[in-house]
Amino acid sequence: MTAALISAQDTLRFLTCGSVDDGKSTLIGRLLYDSKLLFDDQLASLRAETERFGTTGDEFDFALLVDGLAAEREQGITIDVAYRFFATPRRRFIVADTPGHEQYTRNMATGASTADLAVLLVDARTGVITQTRRHAYVAGLLGIRHVVLAVNKMDLVDFDAARFAAIEAAFREAVRDLGFTQIAAIPVSARFGDNVSTASERTGWYAGPTLLGYLETARIDDGAADQPLRLPVQWVNRPNADFRGYTGTVAAGRLRAGDEIAVPRTGQTTRIERVVGAGVDREDARAGDAVTITTAGEIDISRGDVLSPPTARPAVSDQLAAHIIWMSETELLPGRPYLLKTGAQNALATVSELTHRIDPDTYHQEPAKTLGLNDIGACKLSLSEPVTFDAYDDSRATGSFILVDRFSNATVAAGMFRFGLRRADNVHWQALDIDKTLRADQLGQRPCVLWFTGLSGAGKSTVANLVEKKLQAAGRHTYLLDGDNIRHGLNRDLGFTDADRVENIRRVAETARLFVDAGLIVLVSFISPFRAERLLARGLVEEGEFVEVFVDAPLDVVEERDPKGLYRKARAGEIANFTGIDSPYEAPESPEIRLPTDSLAPETAADQVIDYLRDRGYLDRG
Ligand code: ADX
Repeated sequence: MTAALISAQDTLRFLTCGSVDDGKSTLIGRLLYDSKLLFDDQLASLRAETERFGTTGDEFDFALLVDGLAAEREQGITIDVAYRFFATPRRRFIVADTPGHEQYTRNMATGASTADLAVLLVDARTGVITQTRRHAYVAGLLGIRHVVLAVNKMDLVDFDAARFAAIEAAFREAVRDLGFTQIAAIPVSARFGDNVSTASERTGWYAGPTLLGYLETARIDDGAADQPLRLPVQWVNRPNADFRGYTGTVAAGRLRAGDEIAVPRTGQTTRIERVVGAGVDREDARAGDAVTITTAGEIDISRGDVLSPPTARPAVSDQLAAHIIWMSETELLPGRPYLLKTGAQNALATVSELTHRIDPDTYHQEPAKTLGLNDIGACKLSLSEPVTFDAYDDSRATGSFILVDRFSNATVAAGMFRFGLRRADNVHWQALDIDKTLRADQLGQRPCVLWFTGLSGAGKSTVANLVEKKLQAAGRHTYLLDGDNIRHGLNRDLGFTDADRVENIRRVAETARLFVDAGLIVLVSFISPFRAERLLARGLVEEGEFVEVFVDAPLDVVEERDPKGLYRKARAGEIANFTGIDSPYEAPESPEIRLPTDSLAPETAADQVIDYLRDRGYLDRG
């Protein structure tokens, strides 16, 4: 077939976006049909489908060829990214078709991240709408530099030249600052085929190319092969003691045997000895090639390293500025650790500062405390360990990342690195002579955190207070951090939104860590309703130093007790976001200690904690 004769280089990857009624599916169907590569059986099924669902009478309904599943079709909206392939004698095309429905910006971002060009569709009757601006913004943010505005349904405005000119002008004005280097506007009627692949006789005033003609000749130079080498190491290949190779797909640039390379993470440099592809030695490799290389001498290269020329290295940092597109129904919580993945590198990442939210309709930057589904923001990230990266504007492959929720494993954000923060370069660990062991030895005890979690009124503070008294009586050095008290000082600026609670726990977890470092037995009594932050707190201290105590009393019992009258107020609507009422409590799954305080007197509960500590050696003299 023709397609096979066209080289892989001559493939245009493009994205289409528009809102539900703009006729996008019809346009893609028309392109596929006109490129004459439809298979007969696809045509037969299209005819059958048209009879069932079609809206165009006896003609084929091209939209049906494109809209994915039957269920979506019956709803009349497309809801995921669908990739289509077609070819003409001049070029191969990969189309990422992303739904126009407002909620699905995330799908668009997925399609846009690999596209060279975006076709934005508007309805000639309505022109540029909020959706168009939003799609253009996301396309620009994801590095697309080439846009085509397809002004569709020209038949419904009598192929009016003035109408087209006005829409084109409005579009150029709207996208002026989005970084596009090439912008074209084409008047079309997808339904009747005007200017899709054949020039329309009804637009005599238009002298430009048809849409397909434009796509066939658009000059796309992603320049990946001309950029400095980036070889992300996917795995270290060591079949036997004599061979140690590093395998990955060249993300940018070229490499050849004999080249000097650097491992930016460690700063080491070496020379490439062999380049092996598909089992045979080769001279060189370029962007897109999967290879294994060997190096001169043994140096430390691990999975996740990004190899580069010594003279053009990517950045390495654990404090970064980035753009993120939030893709989850659950809002972003600054301070919560998410799993960041970029290439083969993983780290825990928290948004340490949400710099601003970008309104994709007006392109204004606005202050924000969180991001919701489809929101776009600029933020600062703090990572558990440094990653090797490029600015997204310089390299899409090594400049992008995703954030994954640690519990649900869902991808919650797509991100683009901007730059490493210099403040991180200038803050180092200061070596100190007195450490935790010395301090603990001097106190003659084993430091740890007793983390009391549970609903308000469950008895956390009461039990923690008794435990502390018993520890003191036994000569132990302790400190009790209590939610209500800390909220009068260190955390006085925080309220009870999810975001504030995350920050509340992050701060107290860091404080608990410091007290453990001071050699103390630290008691923490906070509702701490979220698993993620309790896991964060656990991760800040060493294995075995964290004892989670679930003070477990059912909601009806604590509500009945209502020691501070807060449940009554919450039920009356006088307090918002009250835990257990209109704010969630995520019970621990495997706490070290569970205290059912509905059936356990506080004294007995405190004794159980002491017994636990004694049995496991926490009270041994250091
Ligand atoms: S946490 O959820 O962020 O861990 P924290 O333990 O600091 O909460 O504070 C809980 C205390 O604040 C409760 O014992 C209660 O006295 C008080 N409080 C006031 N408003 C709320 C609320 N909306 N939800 C829960 N507790 C509240």
